[in-house]
Amino acid sequence: MASPIEFFSRNGAGPKGVPRSPRYAQIVGWGMAVPDRVLTNHDLALMVDTSDEWIRTRTGIAERRISSGPKETTSVLAVRAAREALRVADVPASALDLIICATSTGDYIMPPTACLVQDALGASKAGAFDLGAACSGFVYALSMARGAILAGDADYVLVIGAETISRLINWNDRQTCILFGDGAGAVLLAASPEPGGVLATTLGADGSGGELLWVPAGGSAHPSSHETLANGLHNLRMDGKAVFRFATRVMAEATREVAAKAGWSLEQIDLVVPHQANQRILQSSVVNQLKIPESKVVSNLERYGNTSAASIPIALCEAIEQGRVRPQQNLVLVGFGGGLTWGAVAVRWCAPVTPHPTRWWKTAQRQVGYQAASLRSWWRRSVRRVYTFALGPADEATPRGRLRISVDRWRERRFGKR
Ligand code: COA
Repeated sequence: MASPIEFFSRNGAGPKGVPRSPRYAQIVGWGMAVPDRVLTNHDLALMVDTSDEWIRTRTGIAERRISSGPKETTSVLAVRAAREALRVADVPASALDLIICATSTGDYIMPPTACLVQDALGASKAGAFDLGAACSGFVYALSMARGAILAGDADYVLVIGAETISRLINWNDRQTCILFGDGAGAVLLAASPEPGGVLATTLGADGSGGELLWVPAGGSAHPSSHETLANGLHNLRMDGKAVFRFATRVMAEATREVAAKAGWSLEQIDLVVPHQANQRILQSSVVNQLKIPESKVVSNLERYGNTSAASIPIALCEAIEQGRVRPQQNLVLVGFGGGLTWGAVAVRWCAPVTPHPTRWWKTAQRQVGYQAASLRSWWRRSVRRVYTFALGPADEATPRGRLRISVDRWRERRFGKR
């Protein structure tokens, strides 16, 4: 039996049997944002029974960034990273077709954080959704974005990994509170005829391990209640040893698999950008098992800890900034996390890494665009509020109700039935 791909390619993949011209998903922009507030191992040693030496030797982490207060939310960090990615690519927000935000710590259960980003950017023609695959979320999102581009459904897709995981932490649990930090990273994917970009992906999951890394309450299984709060069920819980064993196995497997799909040997990989969870995991999976030299593995967890879905794009941005990424290099981005989930993408880097200098008027134009977006958002919210509260429910018996009915009729004539 022919595979679906063989079947469709035999029967003409393009419209009316015309072969599609090749399309690639290239990374053309990147950006990151982390909170200013630094929490060091020494600070943590004042909070729980731990020490700088223990944390450094067991994890490689020295400090992490923690979002400060209710104003520095996941969407706020995501918007900062996204604007930077658009600036680097020199692409306006109005060109975006899709925004995917990988996060487990969105601002709300509803609306999706990606929609808050869409609104703040003024990306008026973009669809937007959140993707929940825990720390593997960014790799999953890249894979979805590539699919949308290769299918011809989108030309520009903004992929974000953003977290304020500190909000889920039990600051008395020394096993978890030492590991995590907050931040956001974003890349802009663009459709291109030039061969390269995100060439191959591999994704995996094992739901039987869901309870190894989870937040028990807040979902439909255990909605928020006095009891869930009293029992600390809204905090992140982890079986560290089991996650460690799982991580070292899948990181190596996923890297091998995606390299093979891209047609590369392990020696042909120029740079691995792994999920930043623990230096010992990187060492035993990528370096020891795959024999990829440490010099080819990006690690910045000393300064940021584990920022979950944000860790890979943040590490990628820093690697670019440090001049470790160059055109025509082969990159593997590989992650794992709660779910259990894992995944990897193979990228042939094509974008110039010294972005053209931004002219002042371009910066001003962007700022004006973002101000206009927030003004438009404010205007729409105000109109809705006035409409809902001032006019009240449609009711023939009251003057406000009759006014509402007339306004509804006028809107229907003016804008059609909605
Ligand atoms: N400070 C000091 N001691 C600590 C400690 C801390 N923060 N956390 C645990 N310990 C103690 C334990 O109580 C234990 O003491 P005991 O031997 O007297 O019982 C000892 O240190 C060893 O604990 P253990 O759990 O075996 O440590 P470990 O070497 O497995 O390291 C983790 C613990 C959490 C750092 C490690 O298991 C890990 O990184 N796992 C993966 C987690 C991860 O990546 N999660 C995110 C996935 S996206």
